[in-house]
Amino acid sequence: MDFREHIRVIADFPKEGISYKDITTLLKNGEMYRAAIDAMVEKISPWQPEVIVGPEARGFLLGAPVAYALGIGFVPVRKPGKLPAKTISETYALEYGFDTLEVHADAINPGERVVVVDDLLATGGTMLATANLMKKIGADMLGMGFLIELTFLNGREKLAEFPVFSLVEY
Ligand code: PRP
Repeated sequence: MDFREHIRVIADFPKEGISYKDITTLLKNGEMYRAAIDAMVEKISPWQPEVIVGPEARGFLLGAPVAYALGIGFVPVRKPGKLPAKTISETYALEYGFDTLEVHADAINPGERVVVVDDLLATGGTMLATANLMKKIGADMLGMGFLIELTFLNGREKLAEFPVFSLVEY
């Protein structure tokens, strides 16, 4: 399957010099969407996770169907102030400023086997923050899966302690 053919590339979005990878064109194509989920499930299934974690928002679009296909639960990692119960949070540095991610404190049991799914590995900041959240909560982090990896940003280096796969590399 050549997923790349179905990912639209937009020059200079959201700012000049950035070549944005638009997955909405892939998601709109039912056959390709299903093939992408199936390909992720094939890679994740041998890890035998008990729960899939997905960061807001595009991580939901891939993580939730992967969890459904595996017949296991899905836990959202969200931007601040969205989750109603007690949360654990992780703040991380961006190019300019900081961002925070949150997860419900009781969403994952200590030792529970977790795989994180997101659409894109760029700098790795989002995934490292998510991994740190999983550490705080006591999860057993089995690995991470991405639809797209921007290899020139070296995000994988930040995640060196975990098994990581991606379906498409730029
Ligand atoms: C995008 C993408 C990843 C993250 C990757 O999310 O969905 O989660 O950036 O970048 P990084 O590896 O440099 O952290 P974004 O923050 O744009 O949020 P969205 O999914 O809500 O659009």
